Amino acid sequence: MSSGQAASKLSSWQKLKQLHQSKSSSLVLKDLFKADSSRFDKHSLTFSEASDVSILLDYSKNLIDDEVLSALFELAREAKVENFRDSMFSGEHINTSEGRAVLHVALRNPLPKDGGWEIKEEGAGQPVHDVLNHMKEFSDSVRSGQWKGYSGKAIDTIINIGIGGSDLGPVMVCEALKSYSKRDLKMIFVSNIDGTDIAEALRSSDPETTLFIVASKTFTTQETMTNAETAKEWFLKTAGDKEHVAKHFVALSTNTQGVTSFGIAEANMFQFWDWVGGRYSLWSAIGLSICLSLGFDNFKQMLDGAHAMDKHFKETPLEKNLPVVLALVGIWYNDFYGAQTQALLPYDQYMKRFADYFQQGDMESNGKSVTKDGSRVDYETGPIIWGQSGTNGQHAFYQLIHQGTKLIPCDFLAPVESQNPVAGGKHHEILLSNFFAQPEALAFGKTETQVREELGSQSSNEALVKSKIFEGNKPTNSIMFQKLNPATLGSLIAMYEHKIHVQGAVWGINSYDQMGVELGKVLAKAILGQLGSEGDVKGHDSSTTGLIHFYQKNRK
Ligand code: F6P
Repeated sequence: MSSGQAASKLSSWQKLKQLHQSKSSSLVLKDLFKADSSRFDKHSLTFSEASDVSILLDYSKNLIDDEVLSALFELAREAKVENFRDSMFSGEHINTSEGRAVLHVALRNPLPKDGGWEIKEEGAGQPVHDVLNHMKEFSDSVRSGQWKGYSGKAIDTIINIGIGGSDLGPVMVCEALKSYSKRDLKMIFVSNIDGTDIAEALRSSDPETTLFIVASKTFTTQETMTNAETAKEWFLKTAGDKEHVAKHFVALSTNTQGVTSFGIAEANMFQFWDWVGGRYSLWSAIGLSICLSLGFDNFKQMLDGAHAMDKHFKETPLEKNLPVVLALVGIWYNDFYGAQTQALLPYDQYMKRFADYFQQGDMESNGKSVTKDGSRVDYETGPIIWGQSGTNGQHAFYQLIHQGTKLIPCDFLAPVESQNPVAGGKHHEILLSNFFAQPEALAFGKTETQVREELGSQSSNEALVKSKIFEGNKPTNSIMFQKLNPATLGSLIAMYEHKIHVQGAVWGINSYDQMGVELGKVLAKAILGQLGSEGDVKGHDSSTTGLIHFYQKNRK
């Protein structure tokens, strides 16, 4: 297991620091490519270890050479990334602060008789498959119209009520695989405690044909429980009899008692386990909305794609291991170049929620400042993750990536094949030409000489010349895949999950707790009890008191 040792104490870390000092000015992409015509071949990897999946990772447009790369791999070895990875797969309790195993990989692991690994943790074998069978049976029956609402009508609307990991994964996947979905089954996701979210969902729904999924690992999350109560009241206003709840409410949770006291029968509960982290839970019962929308077979293919990436991560030498390479290259910028953020830029409209999903995935996992043994880190940990789908981003924030003062490493992702080849149109080729052009422009820029040549007589305007120069040398990864099918999406998500794991292991932090979300929750609860009258507002600073008083004076 990773010791939680400070990364900066490792000799490879010090070596990387020296390498950055001594050679960062000579790590110029233009020169590196000129000096080595096989750079692309040397620094690209392929993954095709699952059926229907073919992924190419081109990491050649990074500010690295052989010496830097070998020091990065040395860092991974010195930080015992391989041991830590193996500890996760074997079910060791690597989430040390909560004393839990971290086994999202078990959710997509076939049974040992079908070639899966033996994982010694309660729930991690047959029970996973029992829940999958339950999900299949239930989703088949709803999708086929066999499952009827209380008045005998089939279900045509699914409202998933959940937040964070109980929302973002299903939302992202349902959007990404929309072209595989049952289009006449309307999917609505309600997460926010802002009443607008549930109000809008209910406004367009019919209680006789709506199925609510209450998705909450703990079944105590304030937003989810409040929205679920509102949904139940709205439903019962029309349905009347509490018995009808059984046909319209199901729960996805680890908390049986919470579920039954809400009024959902155990038979309508889909179980998972405390070793499934919220932000890693879309593979578990939390994926029920995905099954309903896409059908179980597509959900299963997504699990298979993820499992193949798990196998790749577990068994492939570090130098050829996609998640490891992504993680190490990311560390190079994050810790030695001082890059603060990492952009995820999918050139696939269906992946428009991909960056949102990994905002939680990465930032809740690696947004930590103490190591596992409790010491304050003296280096940077998790980056700020952001992005949106191309080419929309190009017309919004790429200006800053090209010519701003900040270094922003970017991952570009694109499919070879479009899901929607527009008849007679060139949409996909135009999209891909942009996907190819942006990393090229970022890497190689445009020199002053080129600008002057282009401007001709106008080149006497010095300010204009300077504004048109692109310094280049901005690092990117390009990830191409054949088609955004369920298996490929599964592999891509697992690839980024393992990237996060590797980075957390190197930084010596616990990527699997989320203590940072607690304080605000506790304060909000206390404040909620004080909102009644001004006299109740106690124990706050003058700013917070002033804000609450302002609200109390002006509310209607
Ligand atoms: O934001 C904190 C968090 O605990 C996330 O990790 C989790 O995904 C989310 O809340 C929802 O939790 P639950 O599924 O228990 O409602």
